[in-house]
Amino acid sequence: MTKPSLLILPGDGIGPEVMTEVRKIIAWFGENRGLEFNVSEDLVGGCAYDAHGTPLHDDTMAKAQEVDAVLLGAVGGPQYDDLDFGLKPERGLLRLRKEMDLFANLRPAQCFDSLADFSSLKTEVVSGLDIMIVRESTSGVYFGEPRGIFEEGNERVGINTQRYTESEIDRVARSAFELARRRNNKVCSMEKANVMESGVLWREIVQKVHDSDYPDVELSHMYADAGAMQLCRWPKQFDVIVTDNLFGDILSDTAAMLTGSLGMLPSATLGPVMPNGRPKAMYEPVHGSAPDIAGQGKANPIACILSFAMALRYSFDQGAEADRLEQAIETVLGDGARTPDLMGPEGGTPFTTAQMGDAILNALGSSI
Ligand code: IPM
Ligand code: MG
Repeated sequence: MTKPSLLILPGDGIGPEVMTEVRKIIAWFGENRGLEFNVSEDLVGGCAYDAHGTPLHDDTMAKAQEVDAVLLGAVGGPQYDDLDFGLKPERGLLRLRKEMDLFANLRPAQCFDSLADFSSLKTEVVSGLDIMIVRESTSGVYFGEPRGIFEEGNERVGINTQRYTESEIDRVARSAFELARRRNNKVCSMEKANVMESGVLWREIVQKVHDSDYPDVELSHMYADAGAMQLCRWPKQFDVIVTDNLFGDILSDTAAMLTGSLGMLPSATLGPVMPNGRPKAMYEPVHGSAPDIAGQGKANPIACILSFAMALRYSFDQGAEADRLEQAIETVLGDGARTPDLMGPEGGTPFTTAQMGDAILNALGSSI
């Protein structure tokens, strides 16, 4: 059998450091669980711009289209702030999402028991929290035309366009309902149907998909601003939240913070199912490139390692091995391992990025 292929794109800032730990984990599964991958590596973001003058070289894009899954670290850095829009590191990431047609961005917000005290919200509000945000990620205001900064009379006007077709809403709604069936069977759809036509259509189509094909799933609708408020008030009321690209960007950062640290949260961005039965897929931590701590061994590799766990689950049908990896992380945190982002005011000696990776490897070793 040919080995499944993985393209690793470490990117910028802390991306390469956290990816070093993921490579160790990938190697462990190869040596100990017979899960071998054909791993290749390339550039994305600022480092690709430095090397090639573009945040994503066409050859890299072509490779990403061919592999079974892409694993991405993070992109961006202050030295790229003044670049033209089309050359910014973020464009590399957006091009991958768009050209691979990765329309369903799955962003779980799960609170590890040992970190419940660490949230800025009360422990009872977040302990045991397990929600999944499904963010549409190939359309909406991120990509809608017209866009740009134009002259209008004697001043300029900045324009972006929120645009959703029925089929774009339909397919992401289906992803959310399918996921909900494997979880707690509830979907809350968020938009601004009170002020936006795209929101009116969003609500109508989500309801239609529900009524025709997923009547067994509990569906509710909420305006996105009220949703943000409810996420902070009582997040455990939610199971799956489905929303558009921009609201999803904001709501997923909010949800992430409920869990205590952005350094903990993985994501999967899935596209159409390929003839081999696997979805087009890219896995990446929700956190950014954190240039302020890059290169200092301070980054938390857990979000990126958990992103690999999502790859095991969603691309490679290895749910039990994904559980094993998540359990190893739970164990290590339960034992008190903390990177600086997870340190409370009581202090202590934090783990370096590499020590956290090694601790997880150790816990994996004890799991077999
Ligand atoms: C995210 C990020 C990206 C986005 C940026 C880096 C383009 O914030 O993945 O949430 O806005 O989608
Ligand atoms: Mg974001």
